[in-house]
Amino acid sequence: MTEAISTNSTGHTESRFLVTGATGFIGAWIVKELVERGDRPWVFDIDTNSTRLAALLTPEQMSSVQLIQGDITQFKEVECALADHGITHVLHLAGIQVPFCAADPLRGAMINVVGTLNVFEAARRRRDLVRNIVYASSAAVFGPEETYGGGTVPEGAPLLPGTHYGVFKQCNEGNARVYYLDDGLSSVGLRPGAVYGVGRDRGMTSGPTKAIKATVVGRPYTIRFTGGVDLQYVRDTAHIFLRCAEAGLTGAKAYTLRGDVMQVRDFLNCLGEILPASRALAKAAGKALPVSYDFDDSALQHDLPGVHRTPLAEGIRETAGIFQRLQRAGKLDTTDLES
Ligand SMILES: NC(=O)c1ccc[n+]([C@@H]2O[C@H](COP(=O)([O-])OP(=O)(O)OC[C@H]3O[C@@H](n4cnc5c(N)ncnc54)[C@H](O)[C@@H]3O)[C@@H](O)[C@H]2O)c1
Repeated sequence: MTEAISTNSTGHTESRFLVTGATGFIGAWIVKELVERGDRPWVFDIDTNSTRLAALLTPEQMSSVQLIQGDITQFKEVECALADHGITHVLHLAGIQVPFCAADPLRGAMINVVGTLNVFEAARRRRDLVRNIVYASSAAVFGPEETYGGGTVPEGAPLLPGTHYGVFKQCNEGNARVYYLDDGLSSVGLRPGAVYGVGRDRGMTSGPTKAIKATVVGRPYTIRFTGGVDLQYVRDTAHIFLRCAEAGLTGAKAYTLRGDVMQVRDFLNCLGEILPASRALAKAAGKALPVSYDFDDSALQHDLPGVHRTPLAEGIRETAGIFQRLQRAGKLDTTDLES
């Protein structure tokens, strides 16, 4: 049954946010921002374990989060989540990451492609409710650095993904474009590089966050890639998702995001300045990432001026501070520190 939807004095329905994949990392930070400003978001996730949310929210804030257990690959479940709660904005982050798509491409396509199609199709059928969709694409829609001849990859560069995951994200951008052309359904796809912060505990680029956590608990840790990386602090990523949802953008936009572009060794040096113990504990080994890392984000800067970039040192300090608080409370989960 659809819940009553109130209208404000201008006759517009109030905003109601559904965040898919929000017991995961980035989604949890979007929920944090929504709750801190007084919203009561709906969270749609197959996994209702709320450890990441609980690490970021007070128990009182947790009570304003409305959890829906659902599978993004099941159209009816997605459709009901939108319709039953009168959802006006969908922030779609449910998905699985590079190593999981590589290990099982069929499952990867079901979740990352069909799941995203389900979100668009459900929104198309409920155009009376849904104003727009912001979904997680990825910098993995681009190929490795050598594909572009080095230097900053310009806006509009060809998408030549070298992973199934990247191809799935590219496919989603194509479907988003067709939903705008055929149905006028507006959307924004966001392409982060490597996002770091509390809650980043899986995926190819989770190493920097794990190195911070390992240092906090006094354990050795090896980041499993070297070379260049674009590190974006998760608070900034979450904020961009929400700004895009509320900016009234029309069309099928796809924005490349840019955080701090650096070498992995620069990250380790910065970590060493903030947490000196890391000099003996944290290192990096392995190949470079199979995705470029130095991108022009001028399209986003043009359409959403003033996007904030948290300096790396500040992001590391805040991340370490939250890990230390959780450790003191006996609530720091370290099962992700596999090396
Ligand atoms: N973290 C990054 O650096 C990064 C970079 C680029 C793009 N992205 C994209 O951003 C999104 C969020 O990334 P994250 O790091 O928060 O990932 P995450 O793995 O922490 O969270 C993903 C969430 O999706 C949920 N999910 C998986 N399968 C589902 C299903 N069938 N139905 C419903 N929910 C399901 C998981 O339970 C999880 O809570 C993903 O789409 C990812 O591809 C992330």
